[in-house]
Amino acid sequence: MSAPVILPVPVFSLLSNAAFALRREVFVWEQKVPEEEEHDAYDITATHFVAIDAGEVVGTLRLISLPEHTKIGRVAVRQAFRGRGIAQAMIVAAMDHARATGQDRFYLTAQSDKLGFYQRLGFVAFGPEFQDGGMPHRAMRDYDKDSAALID
Ligand SMILES: CC(C)(COP(=O)(O)OP(=O)(O)OC[C@H]1O[C@@H](n2cnc3c(N)ncnc32)[C@H](O)[C@@H]1OP(=O)(O)O)[C@@H](O)C(=O)NCCC(=O)NCCS
Repeated sequence: MSAPVILPVPVFSLLSNAAFALRREVFVWEQKVPEEEEHDAYDITATHFVAIDAGEVVGTLRLISLPEHTKIGRVAVRQAFRGRGIAQAMIVAAMDHARATGQDRFYLTAQSDKLGFYQRLGFVAFGPEFQDGGMPHRAMRDYDKDSAALID
């Protein structure tokens, strides 16, 4: 099994189009997120990453640069490619890419059943559970971890 290639891609490109199609497949069709919530205005300014295996886009995520931190979102891996470490590798690669431009505070909102996945990557959950796209979520961050735990 080959290791996927992970790279940032321009928002208007064949690869980002494949990433958006994968997001639709995973979030709209599989997880039943309302279609109108899946794309948003951040897609224009976000940095999009794809994981490519044998010429096929099998994973994607986006980074949104905000004043207080960089937000990781829309993490999706095609069903048949899950459990191979692709999501983990994408997150590590995206964070490394952002760190190279001086961004070192990362934040995300995780589906509540995915907390363990992000905890392994150094994130801690904080604040109350909330609904997003029809699913329960928690906020998580990888900085100020002690105070994050206190808010919990
Ligand atoms: C969540 C998702 C992105 C994980 O992708 P993946 O490529 O299968 O994840 P990885 O293989 O990199 O997983 C890395 C590790 O996290 C573990 N893991 C995966 N999903 C997990 C979960 N829901 N809870 C806890 N651990 C999890 C894996 O078992 C693996 O552990 P290991 O290293 O000991 O084998 C993928 O299942 C997916 O696209 N789901 C649908 C969309 C979604 O839920 N996105 C996340 C929104 S918060």
